[in-house]
Amino acid sequence: MTSAPRIFSGMQPTGSGELHIGNYLGALKNWVSLSREGTYDALFCVVDAHAATTEYRAAEMPTRIFGTALSYMAAGLDPAQCTLFVQSDVPQHMELAWYLSTVTPMGDLHRMTQFKEKSDEHKQNVNAGLFTYPILMAADILLYRATVVPVGNDQVQHLELSREICRKFNARFGDTFPEPKPKLTPTPRIMGLDGKRKMSKSLGNAIDLFDQPKVVEKKLKGAFTDELKLQLGDPGRPEVCNIFTLHTALTPEGEVKQIDADCRSGALGCGTCKKRLTETMNAELAPIQARAAELRAEPQRVLEALEAGAERARSIATQTMADVREAMGMNVRAPKS
Ligand code: ADP
Ligand code: TRP
Repeated sequence: MTSAPRIFSGMQPTGSGELHIGNYLGALKNWVSLSREGTYDALFCVVDAHAATTEYRAAEMPTRIFGTALSYMAAGLDPAQCTLFVQSDVPQHMELAWYLSTVTPMGDLHRMTQFKEKSDEHKQNVNAGLFTYPILMAADILLYRATVVPVGNDQVQHLELSREICRKFNARFGDTFPEPKPKLTPTPRIMGLDGKRKMSKSLGNAIDLFDQPKVVEKKLKGAFTDELKLQLGDPGRPEVCNIFTLHTALTPEGEVKQIDADCRSGALGCGTCKKRLTETMNAELAPIQARAAELRAEPQRVLEALEAGAERARSIATQTMADVREAMGMNVRAPKS
């Protein structure tokens, strides 16, 4: 287990702590299949310290953290096959972030698209944490010497910075960390129901993992396609259609080929295409929602998984931090040169 390549990923406990189809198809579903493969030592984290960079009510945070961890397990992450934990349970994340900040160029942080977007979105609270967010993310990964990081497309820029930070640290203090690489799914960027921006919790354009079948049906019915430009029988353009992208992620491959052909020939209208997607999506969500209901009835299963996960994460983190302090000379008791 310990010599297996390590995977690390995390999500913020935003909103109600529940996740959407974009999170699921862009990242979480991949976490589940990678952790089931058995070839990796996989750690998945609820990154609550990251979530503190946007205004929030402290009284709501515990529910959000719990909701996110529950969603991980409901989606299929099994604590017997991976390590699940909460970031703030392992204070070494914050410690390593500080040391990494000393090798992170300011110019690189200024280039981060997510910082630009978030500081536009939260003009009243452009705090230093929002700016140094990618350093904490690099610390999350490097603390476990993870080499594989399954995320959606929007995190690739942050990961490039993680790699740069890793290289800078190693060049300055000696080889301490392996370079992490992103691992994307075939659908690394799911668009929102508006068809304009990526599906996101904060944009109100999402299908939630816990949406009931009728809600999914209604949301998909109203979802944007380029059908407005199409007359009945006109050839469709699956390559630009979000509904088709969702089919590629959820519908069996043979059927997807047929949908592609029938859309192009004009034989398959958008309404029918959406109905078929509603069926496959609800079939995917049903077992997730059933597991979520079970876990809500037995919350201690989630809490116990997080407790055991934190303990294991802390033991790895303690070792890495000893190596980091050693490499940086932060040890007055070391022999003088
Ligand atoms: P949100 O933008 O909804 O707040 P997060 O930033 O918390 O989502 O993302 C958590 C994970 O889900 C990341 O790995 C991210 O890349 C992935 N992800 C988020 N939205 C999408 C999307 N629309 N399509 C694909 N992956 C996504
Ligand atoms: N920044 C990621 C997001 O917004 C969440 C995250 C924090 C993360 N630390 C990470 C993802 C480490 C992968 C690895 O979605």
